[in-house]
Amino acid sequence: MTLRRVNLVILVLLAVAFLIIVQRNLLNLSDFLHKESPDAGLILPFESELSPDLRRESVRKGEEIPVLITAAEDRLGAVVAAMNSIYQNSKANVVFTILTLNDTADHLKLWLSKTSLKNVKHKIIIFKPELLGGKISNDPHTLEAAKPLTFARFYLPAYIPEAEKAIYLDDDVIVQGDIQELYETSLKPGHAAAFSDDCDSASAKGIIRGAGNQNNYIGFLDFKKEAIKKLGMRANTCSFNPGVILANLTEWKNQNITQQLEHWMELNTQEDLYSKTLAESITTPPLLIVFYKRHSAIDPLWHVRHLGNTGAGNRYSAQFVKAAKLLHWNGHYKPWGRTSSFSDVWDKWYVPDPTGRFAPVRRHS
Ligand SMILES: *[C@@H]1O[C@H](CO)[C@@H](O)[C@H](O)[C@H]1NC(C)=O
Ligand SMILES: *[C@@H]1O[C@H](CO)[C@@H](O)[C@H](O)[C@H]1NC(C)=O
Ligand SMILES: *[C@@H]1O[C@H](CO)[C@@H](O)[C@H](O)[C@H]1NC(C)=O
Ligand SMILES: *[C@@H]1O[C@H](CO)[C@@H](O)[C@H](O)[C@H]1NC(C)=O
Repeated sequence: MTLRRVNLVILVLLAVAFLIIVQRNLLNLSDFLHKESPDAGLILPFESELSPDLRRESVRKGEEIPVLITAAEDRLGAVVAAMNSIYQNSKANVVFTILTLNDTADHLKLWLSKTSLKNVKHKIIIFKPELLGGKISNDPHTLEAAKPLTFARFYLPAYIPEAEKAIYLDDDVIVQGDIQELYETSLKPGHAAAFSDDCDSASAKGIIRGAGNQNNYIGFLDFKKEAIKKLGMRANTCSFNPGVILANLTEWKNQNITQQLEHWMELNTQEDLYSKTLAESITTPPLLIVFYKRHSAIDPLWHVRHLGNTGAGNRYSAQFVKAAKLLHWNGHYKPWGRTSSFSDVWDKWYVPDPTGRFAPVRRHS
């Protein structure tokens, strides 16, 4: 090689490096990565500088990301805030399936159509509580008996029949990351679902033990009962929180997951199989049984939880909450209530109710 040739090669390399640096700075690394993804559709380099309206108009193409969420009348503001956070933080083609009760449907339709959410793709499906007949206790002391919608997640393939993969989210979440990333989490072969484990998660660090903060199976199931003993599960197995589920619906159907879950619901109405200290949702124990050692993992940052528990404000730093991809206010103190931690984060995504029937409780309002 002549000296001149070498010089030329160096010059070209320098030019390429320069272009890469410029491009990354302009587009930002995450946008850069998106551009590489074939399903993301065409992304304009300066899209973020278009007006919000123009951005919405650039119709979302690419693979649909189905998200199932439930809408209960007394917490409709939660669903709206969760949906808004998902939509604003992603360019993906998200399609919501919202399960609600008959009496709530009109209120929800109005809220979604008369506000900035009108372009968000969604369908509203009426959940029929009769579906649960004989499978949940009629005991009025069981709080959950009055909340049939919490069982909707057991019936995922019935509500999203056309999809192979789908996401279920509790309503008391805010998504700060790009939902596409959660959707692309891979499920192991033979697994029908992925959850975030309670032990190794960032949320579990410094967890306050006691009612409502169990992190293993014995906190949810009564291991003295024969039906539970027979399963041969280890009582100290780490539990998981089913407020965020990524599901392979093909596997779900193949393994009859819904029927298996119903089986455990029915058994529990005959004999109380769930832990006496069970403070969290009674939808969790059947899932723990059916998915025992048969589920994939969701990145802990995609399910930062316990924001609704006492002391959450001390447990998490503002930086950690900012870095979280998904925040979950499970526990007693909801962000639309008066005394919750980090309700300012939730407020950023809330879209006021055009009917005025729902309003977050705030000290100065
Ligand atoms: C990159 O873009 C994301 C959202 O598109 C933004 O949150 C983040 O702050 C940006 N990072 C830099 C270094 O500009
Ligand atoms: C649902 O509500 C509408 C009125 O909002 C009523 O006409 C209809 O009968 C209800 N359907 C059921 C199944 O309760
Ligand atoms: C879902 O499960 C089916 C059946 O095991 C498998 O063929 C398919 O690749 C899985 N899909 C995803 C997205 O994991
Ligand atoms: C699921 O249910 C169908 C019909 O009830 C049955 O034929 C099949 O064997 C079941 N599969 C599993 C894995 O239990």
